[in-house]
Amino acid sequence: MACKVKIVEGRIHNFKPQLFVMKTISKYLAVFVLLILSQSFNFLENSFISSFNIGALTKEAPAPSNNPITPEKVELGKKLFFDPILSANNKISCASCHSPAKRFADGLDRSNGFPKGIKTLRNAPTILNAAFNGIDIDGNTDPEKSPQFWDNRALSLEDQCMEPLLSTAEMKGNELPESAYIESLEKKVTSIEEYRELFSKAFSDSTVTIERITKAIATYERTLITPIAPFDRYTRGDVNAMNALQIGGGSIYINWLRWMPPRLC
Ligand code: HEC
Repeated sequence: MACKVKIVEGRIHNFKPQLFVMKTISKYLAVFVLLILSQSFNFLENSFISSFNIGALTKEAPAPSNNPITPEKVELGKKLFFDPILSANNKISCASCHSPAKRFADGLDRSNGFPKGIKTLRNAPTILNAAFNGIDIDGNTDPEKSPQFWDNRALSLEDQCMEPLLSTAEMKGNELPESAYIESLEKKVTSIEEYRELFSKAFSDSTVTIERITKAIATYERTLITPIAPFDRYTRGDVNAMNALQIGGGSIYINWLRWMPPRLC
């Protein structure tokens, strides 16, 4: 009993009204701040998904009507993409500058061109998701108006592919004029039996043309998509794929882009 009194006395003795008020206020303040934060994350989360109408990439890229995606064309395009025989010196393939080991880029400030020692004027971007270049706010991509290159100078993957094949600094070199080079390239590919078979499976017959080469490579590129990033999984409904900070950060980032002048974003 004596002990109890002592404690009560002790409490009474130590009681400081100002401190009590301060502690209570700071407790409520902390709860209030947490509430505001959670509310703003809720708000950000909602605006992230609904207001911006932003979502995951589709798992398949759209293809132009004159070049539908088929497994046979993907197989041919993949082989061509990695094959250095598409260059005049038989040493440079598309993958030399767009290597899977470097996320389909090359990690250099400027790529090593052709002949040895020549550098490209710009650096090689990744070609992952290049099939979605030009995607609009509703998630639609027109494969015939899909801008390629840093300056958007090609308007489809097929058109783009023609450039490195015929660029003197990349795969063509400068020994032959363009028409003679195209003829020699088509002959070189035709001379390989495996290609004749793959071309006849992918197209109506085994004829090798530079247009068919670009169509097959573009088809393979349309399979190089990354639909499993945390963002994609989250926007497809896996609520645990991103945490509150990531969602808040994403929302702030997108809000920023919305208010930025178009040239800056
Ligand atoms: C010697 C290096 C090199 C080779 C070989 C090469 N590229 Fe590139 N690629 C580049 C560079 C550099 C750019 C950027 C050039 C520019 O924007 O002017 C580029 C850009 C691209 C782009 C545009 C991507 C985008 O998002 O804008 C695609 C697609 C592409 N290359 C595919 C290919 C294909 C297909 C081949 C083979 C036929 C190929 N490249 C061969 C260096 C190379």
